[in-house]
Amino acid sequence: MSPFALTRILPEDATGAALRADVLHGLTGTPKTLPPKWFYDARGSALFEQITELPEYYPTRAEREILITRSGEIARAAGARTLVELGSGSSDKTRHLLDALTDLRLYVPVDVSESALTLAGRALVAERPALAVHALIADFTAPLTLPRSPGPRLLAFLGGTIGNLLPAERAEFYAAVRALLSPGDALLLGTDLVKDEGVLVRAYDDAAGVTAAFNKNVLTVVDRELGADFDPGAFDHVALWDADNEWIEMRLRSRRAQTVKVPALDLAVHFAAGEELRTEVSAKFREEGVRTELAAAGLELTHWWTDTEGRFALSLSVVG
Ligand SMILES: C[S@@+](CC[C@H](N)C(=O)[O-])C[C@H]1O[C@@H](n2cnc3c(N)ncnc32)[C@H](O)[C@@H]1O
Repeated sequence: MSPFALTRILPEDATGAALRADVLHGLTGTPKTLPPKWFYDARGSALFEQITELPEYYPTRAEREILITRSGEIARAAGARTLVELGSGSSDKTRHLLDALTDLRLYVPVDVSESALTLAGRALVAERPALAVHALIADFTAPLTLPRSPGPRLLAFLGGTIGNLLPAERAEFYAAVRALLSPGDALLLGTDLVKDEGVLVRAYDDAAGVTAAFNKNVLTVVDRELGADFDPGAFDHVALWDADNEWIEMRLRSRRAQTVKVPALDLAVHFAAGEELRTEVSAKFREEGVRTELAAAGLELTHWWTDTEGRFALSLSVVG
């Protein structure tokens, strides 16, 4: 079997410290917010995998279609010997890229979810004896140092996860990505596209309630990690389209007036009946906007591929 290494970039207590900081900041602000990275404990990662199979959740199928049809082209353009993937999750769709990248020596999946990295990494090395996998438990919004690896590098960021960053955060993120890349390296970016509001809202509010369970999982994480007494049943899942910002928001709406205690922060948080806590923004994109934001960070978009229905795009960019 090929080697599988797992390196924790986040120190053992960093998750706890970061969660405390985010919960304190997010639950004392107006409106109340929590960042989406806290969905992804083992249960959250498993729920996300279920979401990718839902009939309403088209992005995974659309992106997979592009990867199936374009991975050869991507591999020829990138010629990568190292593939780094941010927010890699199950690395499931990535297999199409791994098949096409014939010169690949090293795959570096990066995720906050240790359970997702371990499951994916073990499966990949068992399937692909020639591939070395060096997984990193890390936060892609923090400065990242990559292991020594042969170039050219292809840095993939799939799944439309870029949409979870607000515009100012995206600018910072693209600048950090640019700093990681050398001439000859490339960025492969998955972006969900602006489309019919009904299609978008259904993708985040499925009939089976899996996305609702995923959304409420953040409360379970805060309860477990910070001793809070959130009752997930006392909140309703909400998905809505913000046409001005062109993003979906996921929120949790308090069913009644209630006070939630967070002992680890010595905090009591009051929710009015109907008050909403924002848990995720998922921005949707247009080609020109993506090109412009990348260019501002010194990245030149060279390829833009969509699925046949024009729902999702993969783009390839190089150091400009
Ligand atoms: C929407 S899922 C996409 C997963 C996979 N790339 C796909 O396309 O199906 C987002 C992934 O990013 C990870 N993630 C979210 N925020 C992160 C962060 N700040 N740093 C590292 N990983 C993060 C989650 O654990 C999850 O695996």
